[in-house]
Amino acid sequence: MNKPTLAALAALLLLTSAHAADPKPAVNDTILKNGQKSAQFCRHCHGVGGSSVRDDTPNLAGQNEAYLLAQMNKFVSGQRKNEFMEGLIKALTPEERKNIAMYFSRQEVLARPASNAAQAAAGKRLYDSLCVSCHGANAYGTEKVPRLASQQVGYLKDSLTRYRNGGGERIDPLMAAYTRNLKDADIANLAAYLASMR
Ligand code: HEC
Ligand code: HEC
Repeated sequence: MNKPTLAALAALLLLTSAHAADPKPAVNDTILKNGQKSAQFCRHCHGVGGSSVRDDTPNLAGQNEAYLLAQMNKFVSGQRKNEFMEGLIKALTPEERKNIAMYFSRQEVLARPASNAAQAAAGKRLYDSLCVSCHGANAYGTEKVPRLASQQVGYLKDSLTRYRNGGGERIDPLMAAYTRNLKDADIANLAAYLASMR
């Protein structure tokens, strides 16, 4: 290995460790503005700034950046099935997708879905035993694991049912395993709890 390569590697290491120390690195204003521009059309369903007011449509606001980008890429590759979203995301350039993911991840969820208190209490018990290890106590997830807190009830129910039923709309071996034994009532309780989290 020659010297310039080592120096380049060292610089890269410094960069990555600086990045790892700060979960939300300084935002590049231009990227953020471009993201906001590309995201104009999304508000028709996902709401202004990604705070959805539609029960079947997810909030994108506050969602983890790497997760958002990964899901857009799944719509493109066909690993995730939704006819409209597949067509729409394919029409965006890779750079537009990246900018959009950054933009939405930095918005606050403003529209809070309503939820049922009795169901939420039952949902919390299930969540704490089955889901907390990956999605976290506050349900904010991690870089690759989605945030679930404040998500729309109908969307949560649909997603959990799809992983469980294995019909191919959403494929993820981990989520398939963790939802396999859930009854419809468990799913409704989990969705109520997650929607109630702030
Ligand atoms: C016509 C309504 C509509 C429009 C417009 C729309 N979406 Fe969606 N979007 C949906 C629905 C419904 C889903 C849920 C699909 C599913 O369950 O797989 C979704 C899902 C998503 C997801 C997955 C979120 C998650 O939590 O996994 C992403 C990311 C997304 N949309 C991005 C966008 C972007 C970016 C735009 C604008 C360029 C956009 N959408 C415009 C309806 C829409
Ligand atoms: C082993 C780690 C792990 C466990 C345990 C786990 N999840 Fe997940 N979950 C994931 C990952 C990774 C994804 C993203 C999968 C994908 O790309 O579709 C995900 C996706 C989801 C989604 C889709 C979110 C969205 O925005 O579309 C929901 C809802 C969800 N999980 C709820 C749960 C619930 C409820 C439990 C407990 C019953 C649970 N998860 C347990 C890792 C986990």
